Amino acid sequence: MKLGKFFRRAVEIGIASDPRGKARIEKMLKKEKDRQAKLTGVEKEIADEERTWNPFPDCRVINGSGEEDVKTFIVGIDMETQEVLLADRLREKGKKIDCVLIHHPEGRALADLEKIMPLQVDLLAGVGVPVNHSEAQLRPRMERVWRAIHADNLFRTERAAELLGFPALCCHTITDNLVWQLVEKDICKKNYDDLGEILTALLSIPEYKYYAKKGNPPIIVNGSRGGRPGKIVATEFTGGTNGPEEFLESQSRAGVGTILSMHVTEKTLEEAKKHNVNMIQCSHMASDAIGMNLLLDRMTKDEPKLETVDVSGFIRVKRK
Ligand SMILES: [Fe+2]
Ligand SMILES: [Fe+2]
Repeated sequence: MKLGKFFRRAVEIGIASDPRGKARIEKMLKKEKDRQAKLTGVEKEIADEERTWNPFPDCRVINGSGEEDVKTFIVGIDMETQEVLLADRLREKGKKIDCVLIHHPEGRALADLEKIMPLQVDLLAGVGVPVNHSEAQLRPRMERVWRAIHADNLFRTERAAELLGFPALCCHTITDNLVWQLVEKDICKKNYDDLGEILTALLSIPEYKYYAKKGNPPIIVNGSRGGRPGKIVATEFTGGTNGPEEFLESQSRAGVGTILSMHVTEKTLEEAKKHNVNMIQCSHMASDAIGMNLLLDRMTKDEPKLETVDVSGFIRVKRK
């Protein structure tokens, strides 16, 4: 399969599971196309054409023309210069590696991370938070993320990949959407007497069980094993990065009882305590691995010979 085709297919898969919905996404892409068509001069030169068809600013090919044939992927949750060197070392020892597939964004996908965060407004609307509340709460947090990342050294990984001859791509929110959807359907929608039962249910997912066995299980960070869950949501799985802590109060008012998350900031935890919202922190790496596995399972339908070399937090689990 060609790299460009692989990525376009991944974008389609991400859209199909996106809390923003296909219609909203299409409208957004059309608006951006119209906006870019009117640009002139330097504004036209620096415009990102990708934004007219890919609604995931934190997902993109960071090295390669798209014409490369890719079958064997070295897959990791975080892939930086050291992992690209590892890929090169493995290749030198005879391992076939065509492409670097990364979860957490690098390069321009990282530079544009905050641009995916408005997805959180739609995510919260789905649990009953008015869009005007979440939008107002999100704005200052997006600005903080933008400023923080702006100062980073953003293009080291892609340069290493370029020098060592590896096509590379990032799939972040595409796969976070997939794991969000799975956790919503397989965990949140079921009935539990207490939080302990949710932990047990999470351990029926192979990636969580694998990480639990290694000492990194899902944990209750607010609430108790015997506590009643109330309405369970997975609002901390997709949307770029952690939302503002104000989201906790809004969700509490909207009737949320328990939030499942990949990671929880201390400020968010404080708010969860203040507003009596239970929080379960599922293993971060296991959660990200689930999303990547769901994507790879679907891609295998288009490329039956797809293979992976698993590194940096990723473990391949195949689902039917
Ligand atoms: Fe993720
Ligand atoms: Fe992550």
